[in-house]
Amino acid sequence: RAVVTKPVKKPEVQSFKSKEKSLKIFFGTQTRTAEDFSRVLEKEAKKIGIPVDVVDMELYDPEDLSSEYFVMFIVATHGEGDPTDNAKEFYLWLTSEDRQPASLSNVPFTVFGLGNKTYEHYNAVARVIDRRMEELGGKRVSERGEGDDDATLEEDFIHWKKNMWPSVCEFLGYELKSAEDDKFVPRFRMVNVDGEGQDISNPYIKVVPPRIKPKLDKDGKTVLYEMKNPYLATVVENRELHGVASDRSCRHVELDISGTSLSYTPGDHLGVFPVNDTELVEALITRLGVDGEQIFALVPHDKAGRVVEASFGPVTIRKALHESFDITNPPRKAIIRALAEYTAVEEEKKRLLQLASEEATDEYNNYIKHEFRSVVDLLVQFPGVQPPIAHFFELMPRIPARYYSISSSHSATPGRVTITSVVVNFVNGAKRLHNGVCSTWLSKLAPGSKVPIFVRESHFRLPPYFGGSKKTTTTTTTTTTTTTTTISTNTVISSQLKSSSSLTKCPPIIMIGPGTGLAPFRGFLQEIKFKLQQQKSVEIAEAADQPALNTKVYFGCRRADVDYLYKEEIELYKSEGIIRDLSVAYSRAIDKKVYVQHKLLEDSLSIWEALQQGAYIYVCGDARNMAKSVQQTLQQIIREHGGGDENASQSYIDDLGKSGRYLQDVWF
Ligand code: 2AM
Repeated sequence: RAVVTKPVKKPEVQSFKSKEKSLKIFFGTQTRTAEDFSRVLEKEAKKIGIPVDVVDMELYDPEDLSSEYFVMFIVATHGEGDPTDNAKEFYLWLTSEDRQPASLSNVPFTVFGLGNKTYEHYNAVARVIDRRMEELGGKRVSERGEGDDDATLEEDFIHWKKNMWPSVCEFLGYELKSAEDDKFVPRFRMVNVDGEGQDISNPYIKVVPPRIKPKLDKDGKTVLYEMKNPYLATVVENRELHGVASDRSCRHVELDISGTSLSYTPGDHLGVFPVNDTELVEALITRLGVDGEQIFALVPHDKAGRVVEASFGPVTIRKALHESFDITNPPRKAIIRALAEYTAVEEEKKRLLQLASEEATDEYNNYIKHEFRSVVDLLVQFPGVQPPIAHFFELMPRIPARYYSISSSHSATPGRVTITSVVVNFVNGAKRLHNGVCSTWLSKLAPGSKVPIFVRESHFRLPPYFGGSKKTTTTTTTTTTTTTTTISTNTVISSQLKSSSSLTKCPPIIMIGPGTGLAPFRGFLQEIKFKLQQQKSVEIAEAADQPALNTKVYFGCRRADVDYLYKEEIELYKSEGIIRDLSVAYSRAIDKKVYVQHKLLEDSLSIWEALQQGAYIYVCGDARNMAKSVQQTLQQIIREHGGGDENASQSYIDDLGKSGRYLQDVWF
């Protein structure tokens, strides 16, 4: 599989000799925020005088951990309590039951986690690492910090640092100097080069692009595509899924991945790197007063020589702004603070510093985050701000990948992967129409266009009968013991069911997905049909009379002629018996809103019976409202037929979740 294979050999990481009083900062990041935070800590450690290394967890051999002098983990949690891709292997190593209890005896450590409170498994990875380090004998020098990206991430980080540095300095025997430093100190210099990479202002220096060492499969030859090295897939189909009566748009985008190592299981996610909107990029180029065709590279200050490897580039400013920098998401306070350094207009400086201050939580959240202001909006609103382009590039985060639930089955459509993407747009606080970067870009791609993609494995899997199984990196459960139990149980079920060719052994499957929540279920249904055809245990035509295949689909949309996604396909599955019970909730067909949860309640008894038969329940779509209401409804059904109070129905659902029979693929 693309996502879990080890690099052939870990590259050497420059490190201080063990037992020297040094600090190693490990970052586990998906969007670079944890790396940025690690860089802030690096700068502050240097100021105190502590030798420091910042290390990408992926490039580190955890077997060396026991000989470290002091380790700090700055780790993000994503998805369903998962480690970030670059932290996965380290995390598996640390949480493996093979580790001896005293194997990290007295390794001093501290942890800061980056999470989001609106997700169920808030900061799960940081919590597990913190607990595991202690279990293995590590010495916690300062309490774990947790940052909430939904509200106060940067403040949480600053708050943690305030307590952390005094403890760490005391432990390491360094005098605590005021470590905090708000001023932006560039780590890179910008070199303008010609088409050959020759430094324009210094004929003796040539800049070469960073070397990318692609991950290879065990055979040492096949390239494994991942976030750091995405595959440039070709669009083969891009069509509208909404009806003419719709004022919105939802696209079916099909990509060619034939001849590559990319593979996926229904339920997996596709990471997509989008390209920024041309108009926005041109506006920014004009505003910054730069030449878009200028080729540049960013080179670390400490790199010298006649041939220098760049950290970024060489590339034209225009291409960099199109493809690499995140110019649309609300900027973090650190960026606003840095921008304040580049205006001579006192009022602007004051306002920007105020917005970026630690106290301005509500003001920042309202003005920047909730009103969705981008750095471009700020530059327009504060015309006195003139950042040097080199600093601007260093400050700006890189464009993050967007994740889509894959809407196809690889077995059924070899060489293809599809996504179902609703086009997002809204007017932001600066009264500018904000077009969702990725969905807008995707919606306009003609067949033949290229899309950088990679596959992210998910927990959202068909029951073992259909080959789905829970992956082994289960971080959703807080203890490793529970995890192991879950997996072994599934494995037993899996082998029992696979050895049986009778559909009577197949547990009921309940899929609940309004709107684009239908996406992974399209993949599930393709897979089910394919597997059944392959097994030849039943002819598809007979399946309609075959009550044993108990699949229920709950889909919700506004109106049949507006946004009933994949209507023909779904109805065909229904007529073929691949879907046994189909229930569509139309929310705007009559005066009264009808949602999927209402349909569930109507089918209360059959849902309860399915649960008694070991049903697997899948929920996909909006987390904030839909998934919550659906869960409440399920609990109501459980109480209605099974008795018990609120707590009992909650435990019932929790147990379903633990045994892998209640799975959610939801987003905010
Ligand atoms: P609405 O937009 O008419 O409110 C897909 O977006 C479907 O999900 C739409 O029919 C939408 O209805 C519906 N939807 C909106 N909020 C929901 C909720 N809280 N629970 C279930 N479905 C919801």
